[in-house]
Amino acid sequence: MSTNKQNLTEKKQLLRGEQVNVNQLLPLKYRWAWEHYLNGCANHWMPNEVPMNKDIELWHSQRLTESERFIIMRNLGFFATAETLVGNNLVLAIFKHVTNAECRQYLLRQAFEEAIHAHAFLYIVESLGLNEHEVFTMYHTIPAIQRKDQFEMKLTAALLDPNFSTDSFAGAQQFLANLIGYYVIMEGIFFYSGFAMILSFHRRNLMTGIGEQFQYIMRDETTHLNFGIDLINGIKAENPELWSPAFQQHMLALIDEAVELEIAYAEDCLPYGILGLQPGAFRHYVQHIADRRLERIGLPVQYHAAHPFPWLSETIDLSKEKNFFETRVTEYQSSSALKWD
Ligand SMILES: [Fe+2]
Ligand SMILES: [Fe+2]
Repeated sequence: MSTNKQNLTEKKQLLRGEQVNVNQLLPLKYRWAWEHYLNGCANHWMPNEVPMNKDIELWHSQRLTESERFIIMRNLGFFATAETLVGNNLVLAIFKHVTNAECRQYLLRQAFEEAIHAHAFLYIVESLGLNEHEVFTMYHTIPAIQRKDQFEMKLTAALLDPNFSTDSFAGAQQFLANLIGYYVIMEGIFFYSGFAMILSFHRRNLMTGIGEQFQYIMRDETTHLNFGIDLINGIKAENPELWSPAFQQHMLALIDEAVELEIAYAEDCLPYGILGLQPGAFRHYVQHIADRRLERIGLPVQYHAAHPFPWLSETIDLSKEKNFFETRVTEYQSSSALKWD
């Protein structure tokens, strides 16, 4: 590598670099960020490509129980608004402080994916003719959803304080807490009871249009989580002083609080259980997921719970870094086929 190129690479840093200057992608320093970006692009999908006819027919029939409808509605209510919190946090709180071009390229891709996810919930609600007011207000009418959202919004608000800066030790730790709060907790724990519940319908060949969209969302979220973990571990490697024993204890407590919120959410969605899903099993499920996340950011596992849904681990292989669906959603137009009228 020429000296000039080497200097340019060395100058790149994840935090505390240039916020406003042009984003110099080359030479790439954080190749993982670029790989996640390419992976996200390769998995592009749009909600309205997923047919909803079978779901519409089933939803308007008598073949779903009240408990089954309740679970679907609660999860739509949580995800419809949670996706927007993730988008807000990315754009308003994270982007400004991540001062590396490769990572910013990924963040822009991720922000668009969050918009697609919000689109998916609008599309589902419209297709099924659901009460949109009920779905889109659950974040303040359903306490178990409200508590998860408030937990996250506090982390965003801390970074929006006009005096916030990653230049200080406390500020950089607060930033790291935000990344853990969103990538590890929101996208890595708070989404997973919902994924399990909705995919249990898909497995029984019920509400497969919603199920298919959840599979695409889960595939995207797996990449978001993987990027977030690489970013967190990258910041730790460049700034090891931030990862103090006291900070690690603080993160363990934060994750423990989130685990309890997620268990309460799952129990609230599933008061009586449905075929294949017993409410008590979610405590172990959430704990199992949380342990996998802890391992990946170098914290000790806490719960040692077995995975209670073996069928689900066939769908979600948590250890896989890459996408787990082999088929492409759709063929996209090539540039020559684009029409501008
Ligand atoms: Fe999302
Ligand atoms: Fe996400």
